[in-house]
Parts: sequence; structure tokens; C-alpha cells
Amino acid sequence: MHNLAKTIIAVTAAGILGACATSGTQKSATEVPKLGKPISEQTVALWNIDVRTKDGVGLPGGSGTVAQGKAVYEKQCASCHGPDAKGGPVFGTMVGGIGSMTQSPRILTPGSMYPYAAILFDYTRRAMPMNAPQSMTNNEVYAVTAYIYNLNGLIPNDAVVDAKYLAAMKMPNRDAFIQDTRPDVKAERCMSNCKPVNSKL
Ligand code: HEC
Repeated sequence: MHNLAKTIIAVTAAGILGACATSGTQKSATEVPKLGKPISEQTVALWNIDVRTKDGVGLPGGSGTVAQGKAVYEKQCASCHGPDAKGGPVFGTMVGGIGSMTQSPRILTPGSMYPYAAILFDYTRRAMPMNAPQSMTNNEVYAVTAYIYNLNGLIPNDAVVDAKYLAAMKMPNRDAFIQDTRPDVKAERCMSNCKPVNSKL
């Protein structure tokens, strides 16, 4: 992420220099375009929030309790998701449905569907509340994650949820996803002398 962001800036700068050269403008060797500014580590950090949900790598510090999460939920989520996360004006239930994956209809909730517990943290941190995404502290996100998993009966009332806790949780639906084995859906990195995409078909 860091290197990528810097590379993009470097490439953009090179493009501008190139454009000046072809338009015939004379530039001394030491002159640089006075556009943009170097990106700071602090700015990059705001965007560098990806989490490897399988084992929780990338989860931040901080923690939250079920009780704290209930307070966060009632203030920031209930208006859309309804009381006790059982469904509100814009979204259905986020509770229950565990074991319903083989039934019709399935009830898809963070408890019943997500294969890894960190998905709820990651999704909530980047996307919720929908009217103010990324406005919550990490502690608030941990807390509301704890509350929703507690409502789903997956963690006890006194749980203190943090990075380690989420990584250690075994979700009920973890092993129910089917790997897609068709050859044409497998991405293989190749930078030169690559086979045609469908050569194995
Ligand atoms: C302004 C309305 C609104 C508010 C407030 C809001 N949400 Fe949402 N939420 C939505 C909508 C709409 C979706 C469905 C988004 C989609 O499917 O693209 C959603 C989806 C979700 C999902 C995904 C459920 C799934 O399918 O797995 C989670 C988890 C979630 N919200 C948690 C929260 C939490 C936690 C809060 C409070 C911090 C919150 N939301 C506040 C509107 C809202």
C-alpha cells in the first residue's frame, strides 16, 4: 500500500514531465513540477485498513465489551437496523439463521453466514454507519462487533472483544463455503511470456 501510493505519485510526476518535454517547454534538470505533495505515513495509515479476515492480520489495537456495543448500537445503528438488530426500515435481521444455510429460505446474518469473525469488524469499520462511514473509533467498532455476535449467541455477555478474540473465534459457517475448482476462475500471476488466458480449457 505505501509503496503503491508512492509509485502512483511518481508515475504521475513522470507523466507531467513527459508532457512538458513534448510540448517543447524548456526545463532545467533540477526543476521539478510544483504539483502535489509527498504523502505522509499518517495519511496513508487512514486508508491502510485492510484486514486478512481469515486470521485477523491487520486488525488494529483496542477492544470493546458487549455492554459498550449495545450503547453504540442504540445510538448509531438502531435507526436503520432496528431494535436488537432484528431488522429495521432499510435492512433485515442481523441476528439468527445459524444452521439455515441448507434450508430455503436461508437467513443470512453475520452470525449465520460469515466464515470468519473479523469480517464483521472490517465491514463495519469501513462501511457503517452508512450515513457516516469510518466515523467510529476502533474501540467502538470492536464493541458493536461484540454486541452483534452476542445477540447471535456466539459469545458470552462478559466477552471483551479485541483482535486476538476475533481471530480465535470459530464461526458456525466457516467450513461450508465451496471452493470453485473451475480452471478459468483461477488467477495466476504472470508478467511476461504468459499463456493465453484460456489455454488450459
Ligand atoms: C443510515 C442507515 C444505516 C445505519 C445508521 C447503519 N446501517 Fe448498517 N447497513 C445499512 C444498509 C442499507 C446495509 C446494506 C448495505 C448493502 O447491502 O450494500 C447495511 C448493512 C450492514 C451490515 C452487513 C450485513 C450483512 O449483510 O452481512 C452490517 C454488519 C451493518 N450494516 C452493521 C451496522 C452497524 C454496526 C451500524 C452502527 C454502527 C450500522 N450498520 C448503521 C444501513 C445502515
